[in-house]
Amino acid sequence: MKIDILTLFPNMYDGFLSESIIKRAIDNKIVDINLINFRDYTEDKHNKVDDTPYGGGKGMVLMCDPIFKAVDKIRKKNSKVILLSPQGKKYDQKMAKKLSNEKHLIFICGHYEGFDERISSIVDEEISIGDYVLTGGELPSMVISDSIIRLLPGVIEEESYTNDSFYDDLLDYPNYTKPREYRGMKVPDVLLSGDHKKIDDWRKEESIKKTKEKRPDLIEKNKEKLIKKVGNYSIMEDNSKKKLININLKDSYNFLPKENIKKSDLSSISRVMIIEPTFINKLAKASVQKKLDVLFKQIKIALNDETDDEGDLYVLSEIDKMMELLLNNYIKYLGIDYIRVIEAKLNAFKNEINMKHILKSQLVDFNSKGRSK
Ligand SMILES: C[S@@+](CC[C@H](N)C(=O)[O-])C[C@H]1O[C@@H](n2cnc3c(N)ncnc32)[C@H](O)[C@@H]1O
Repeated sequence: MKIDILTLFPNMYDGFLSESIIKRAIDNKIVDINLINFRDYTEDKHNKVDDTPYGGGKGMVLMCDPIFKAVDKIRKKNSKVILLSPQGKKYDQKMAKKLSNEKHLIFICGHYEGFDERISSIVDEEISIGDYVLTGGELPSMVISDSIIRLLPGVIEEESYTNDSFYDDLLDYPNYTKPREYRGMKVPDVLLSGDHKKIDDWRKEESIKKTKEKRPDLIEKNKEKLIKKVGNYSIMEDNSKKKLININLKDSYNFLPKENIKKSDLSSISRVMIIEPTFINKLAKASVQKKLDVLFKQIKIALNDETDDEGDLYVLSEIDKMMELLLNNYIKYLGIDYIRVIEAKLNAFKNEINMKHILKSQLVDFNSKGRSK
């Protein structure tokens, strides 16, 4: 791969090009990096590359001419011209993988206030390394080049980067080295077991757990890819061991099956996550109905028993709990109208129980007054 970097500050790259993995990749001729000072493409005697902005305002703006001329000179048929800009597409590992397949990259590093807008007409892509503003495009060009070069064949061992965070949309698993125990913190036993299958399984699970904890957005973003549908069930695919991994998707409905489901191609399932909306609705209704059946039985007993005041209070609190559960947990699956119908029914029962109390106390009052006459 060839990388041409258009910059006004080539000295900034001294350390980057002369150390570690990047130096080795250059020495081994896997990558060829050229620093091109686009000031060399100016034609006036002051080598002017920038000027004040039209319309006024502070700072200097990089002019079209030196950059257009530099790109005209070095661009080939298979070149990809990248403008580094905080306004560009946010850089990530997927883009690194894609760019690592290119033959020739040309990075244009801005400085000062930025570029004359017309420069964007000669670029193939605008890339930002994050939502913050740096003084120049030099650091971003190093960041992007580094992330691409380590993916080129022969630079590092493939296993090193396929295990890295983001390679398969998950964060890397936890790593440990010697000693086995440090300040009371022990290396997990499984890593010392020598059982590679077990270690692989543990690492996969930990990687998913970590992603869920630290970057739930990655799970959410890639759920189509990470989640496999088995009939109406969704499982997170784990190549080493087909098993259900409990992740909380925003719109999913989790429930515990009555008996662990056993399937030949799956390990036993103790928790199921549904993402199909109509199925969620059916399940949520069935679950609410089951809870209501129990509650209605209790209400019936309470209404028919004139003597059990404590039982009445208990049933009234169960009705309140049921309403809370419906409003907190089920409204998102069943909708407000459905919940309101149940609420009306439960309120009617509450009134009936309360009315029973009032009548009872009036009767007691009446009887005691009658007796005292
Ligand atoms: C001070 S910045 C100019 C920022 C510009 N005025 C704006 O707000 O979009 C100077 C140069 O640094 C580079 N740069 C700054 N932040 C960057 C980022 N997050 N990603 C990529 N390049 C960046 C760009 O090449 C930019 O032209």
